[in-house]
Amino acid sequence: MLNVAVKAARAAGALINRASLDVEALRVGTKQANDFVTEVDHAAEAAIIDTLLGAYPDHGIWAEESGRREGKGRGKGHVWIIDPLDGTTNFIHGFPVYCVSIALMVDGRLEQAVVYDPTRNDLFTASKGRGAYLNDRRIRVAKRTRLSDCLLSTGFPFRPGDAYDTYLKMLGEMLPRVAGVRRPGSAALDLAYVAAGFADGFFELGLSPWDVAAGALLVTEAGGLVGNFTGEPDFLETRECMAGNPRIYGQLVGLLSKYSRCAHHDDRLAPPAASTPPQPPAAGDAPW
Ligand code: IPD
Ligand code: CA
Ligand code: CA
Repeated sequence: MLNVAVKAARAAGALINRASLDVEALRVGTKQANDFVTEVDHAAEAAIIDTLLGAYPDHGIWAEESGRREGKGRGKGHVWIIDPLDGTTNFIHGFPVYCVSIALMVDGRLEQAVVYDPTRNDLFTASKGRGAYLNDRRIRVAKRTRLSDCLLSTGFPFRPGDAYDTYLKMLGEMLPRVAGVRRPGSAALDLAYVAAGFADGFFELGLSPWDVAAGALLVTEAGGLVGNFTGEPDFLETRECMAGNPRIYGQLVGLLSKYSRCAHHDDRLAPPAASTPPQPPAAGDAPW
């Protein structure tokens, strides 16, 4: 199944590379302000789905541009989670940081992952229990243990209604404590870079399952942890994602858990403590 996913990712990558030679000619649509889609996103997604369903016609699909379809028969528990082009805003501008992301979930568990960067021909792969690879080299998360030595990646909010105020507070806490923070613009690749040890950690709000499914398996198979800001593993549903090696992940939880939507939720459920009343989200923030 991993081989089929690699074939699908390379087919999409070839389409993306061809289109990147003339980005001026692209037809660009807008899903909402600052959220773009091009004919290349659609063509790449169609090529991926063709390849996957060609091999496994009964499997389910959960794809960013064309939505969900259930698996049937023996393929019922199998769902391919697809982001055909992660980093579309970069792609439209010719900023060469974007990738194809494909994950296979079986009965709710991530089992296979491919993140393919067609600009560098970097192929990141992982299978559950078998480690993570960049091309044919085994990769592992970085070993740094002090946050002050760490290079982190993140994603800035960019859509109307995103939690700008909360995010700026989180970033304000992070910047003085780390060696550097980068905003490359492709969440799937950000997670792949954590898996490869190129970045020590990652945090972002507002991500969708197709942004993070494949990258998350890469991180865990490379020895890291992925979860929401309170350290729980339900990052696919909660739209908050954080990753790092176990030591760094723990320190990130210490800093970011108070900004978690999950923590706010818990606050509302728990009886208010007399000395520490629950903090409402900052003014101007919408729930993300
Ligand atoms: C986006 C990228 C970006 C992240 C956004 C995503 P797209 O995906 O992953 O890094 O900050 O939240 O939507 O739209 O280019 O597939
Ligand atoms: Ca994406
Ligand atoms: Ca996309």
